[in-house]
Amino acid sequence: MSTEVKLNRITALYSNEMKKRGEKITMLTAYDYSTALKVDEAGIDIILVGDSLGMVILGYDSTLPVTMEDMIHHTKAVSRAAKHAMVIGDMPFMSYHASTDDAVYNAGRFLKEAGAHGIKLEGGREISNVVSRISAAGIPVMAHLGLTPQAIHKLGGYRVQGRDKGDASRILEDAKILEDAGAFSLVLECVPETLAREITESLNIPTIGIGAGVHCDGQVLVVNDMLGLYEKFTPKFVKKYADLDLVLKNAFKHYIDDVKSGAFPGDEHSFH
Ligand code: KIV
Repeated sequence: MSTEVKLNRITALYSNEMKKRGEKITMLTAYDYSTALKVDEAGIDIILVGDSLGMVILGYDSTLPVTMEDMIHHTKAVSRAAKHAMVIGDMPFMSYHASTDDAVYNAGRFLKEAGAHGIKLEGGREISNVVSRISAAGIPVMAHLGLTPQAIHKLGGYRVQGRDKGDASRILEDAKILEDAGAFSLVLECVPETLAREITESLNIPTIGIGAGVHCDGQVLVVNDMLGLYEKFTPKFVKKYADLDLVLKNAFKHYIDDVKSGAFPGDEHSFH
């Protein structure tokens, strides 16, 4: 990443320029101040406050119970930390489905109350009018196709999408419709890499893949997955960059032993 990027915040426009010059876009999720601070200092381009927080932070079985209040609360914390990265707030289930007016209002809350720089929502042509209304309000919209976890009951499970020809061409058409509606970028989740490549080459806006192969313009991972902090389920597409589960368990055990044995607090931790 160039010094210029370090000094200025990443914008929707800038991510488009990155695609044009073939510079990969990096995105990670974060849900709290301390993690966002480290992710931002490491030089990430985009921080997504994903509704995946429903599973990895709040302990739900899916993202469906996540509320606008949950999202605003966590996005505020992340925005306080992010000095360089673009912060995207993920619109939770039912915050943009009932009416377009609700959708615009809820999208606006992410920028107005939570300090985000854009929003993400899931779905294809059926939400294109929502995308264009939010975008017309001056809010950068990141779209999301392929495996869309908010539609888990309709999809019948967390599985690869777009494997057959009909599905693949529907996803490609949806991608173009969302671009025309004003989306500034597109997350592609769990689609075959050949399809992700075709979509990436067909669009002017950048694609950001998760389980969508190497040909996307950028990549995103859930931070708890890549740190080895969510042991319940690790999808095939996750690369673990650390095993914090083990590090944390060992630290906690060490603390318990120290307290039980009287080794903590030591003289240096006490006031005299
Ligand atoms: O909620 C989330 O973290 C996401 C990413 C997996 C893209 O939508």
